[in-house]
Amino acid sequence: LRTVGKSLFVCPPHPSLELCPAVLFFSRPRCSGIPYVPQPRDKSVSARSVISFYNQSAIDIAAEKPSVRLTPTTILYAGKSPDNSHILRSAQYLYKELPVRVAHRIRDFRHLPFIVGCNPTILHVHELYIRSFHLLSEFPPVEDFESEEKYTKLVKDLLDDHKDVVTLLAEGFRESRKHIKEYKVIQDFLDRMLTSRLGIRMLAQHHIALHQEKPNYVGIICTQMSLKKIIEKWADFSRQVCEYKYGYAPRVRVLGHVGVVFPYIPLPLDYILPELLKNAMRATCEQHADNPVNMPDVTVTIANNDVDFIIRISDKGGGMPREILEKVMQYHFTTCGSEMDPASENLDGLGTMMSAMNDGPNGAGPMYGFGFGLPTSRAYAEYLGGSLTYNTMQGIGTDVYLRLRHIDGNYESFRI
Ligand code: ADP
Ligand code: COI
Repeated sequence: LRTVGKSLFVCPPHPSLELCPAVLFFSRPRCSGIPYVPQPRDKSVSARSVISFYNQSAIDIAAEKPSVRLTPTTILYAGKSPDNSHILRSAQYLYKELPVRVAHRIRDFRHLPFIVGCNPTILHVHELYIRSFHLLSEFPPVEDFESEEKYTKLVKDLLDDHKDVVTLLAEGFRESRKHIKEYKVIQDFLDRMLTSRLGIRMLAQHHIALHQEKPNYVGIICTQMSLKKIIEKWADFSRQVCEYKYGYAPRVRVLGHVGVVFPYIPLPLDYILPELLKNAMRATCEQHADNPVNMPDVTVTIANNDVDFIIRISDKGGGMPREILEKVMQYHFTTCGSEMDPASENLDGLGTMMSAMNDGPNGAGPMYGFGFGLPTSRAYAEYLGGSLTYNTMQGIGTDVYLRLRHIDGNYESFRI
């Protein structure tokens, strides 16, 4: 048993935290019965636990503050000092910023419809954030390299503690879907939650990465990012998973401006690309199941200009049926498992097997079979000043367009 945060609830660990990646690959942890049982140790503790959700003036104060969002160029050109004072400055920025951003997340949990917010899985995530808030805000000020080292260790540990947050939220909202009257409330919550979390994780990982010397990298920013290489990396990954499930996988051709190299943050692409490639491959395999030897390729086209870059993923997987067109961008809509039943508990399909990969890069990898791939990718793309759109030709296939803004382009880029 382990205590979660200051709330004094005792919570056994979620099974997915315990599994090694190989085990995760082959068995999706069951989600419905997350063993989270509030277990007050005595009555006074019980009363305090409930109060502790609301009576947190430090959180209220922090939640009132605006977050200070930086452009990637500000981060990139923040300057690298020979005496490593840039690392100290970075830690001091995080030290002020993280509690504010985490407090914003807690405020959003509190504003969820009551019955949804009471779902044990959602409560568990809510508590994770309360716990992180206290750990971050009660840490002594970062004034020298000794405290910076300890602070960085705390941030690393918190990244790890939160690595399953997206899976847990997907599970929690699926469990409580019958109580959700207004989908828009949940969509707005998840859009804000997931994008803010992407920002928090990017900042935290950037700080950690500043400690490492890696050619062509400043923190998490790759100064010479090759789109072709990153697409190929995720195409290989998706093909392997697809081959495991179907016994075959379409080839992926990369066309267009294949030679482009520019500064960018690979991290969000590491989330989005496997989602989109997996969708294209799944559709292709299912559409051409009777003739897998002659399966059409998935074609990825890169177009680069001085404002943004576009990645088009084209498949001949039969397109999306008209009746699902309106729904595919909704959280939890999936045709994985039971045919077109978004409420399905049976996720035994490509989704099941691939959801096992949720650990993914940086602890928040692709979401397979939850119906989170497209809405999450679109939210991330918009957060990064871009867009995710698609055109589908029923009976033929689908083109998905991911458009993202350069960080050193002609217009101001996004802020993290
Ligand atoms: P998931 O993969 O977990 O189902 P997504 O949000 O990635 O979630 O996709 C939602 C649904 O959209 C899929 O289940 C599928 O029905 C449909 N879809 C997405 N991409 C394609 C595609 N390229 N071709 C056909 N259908 C697609
Ligand atoms: C998250 O990954 O959900 C976080 O917010 C991490 C942060 C507490 C360091």
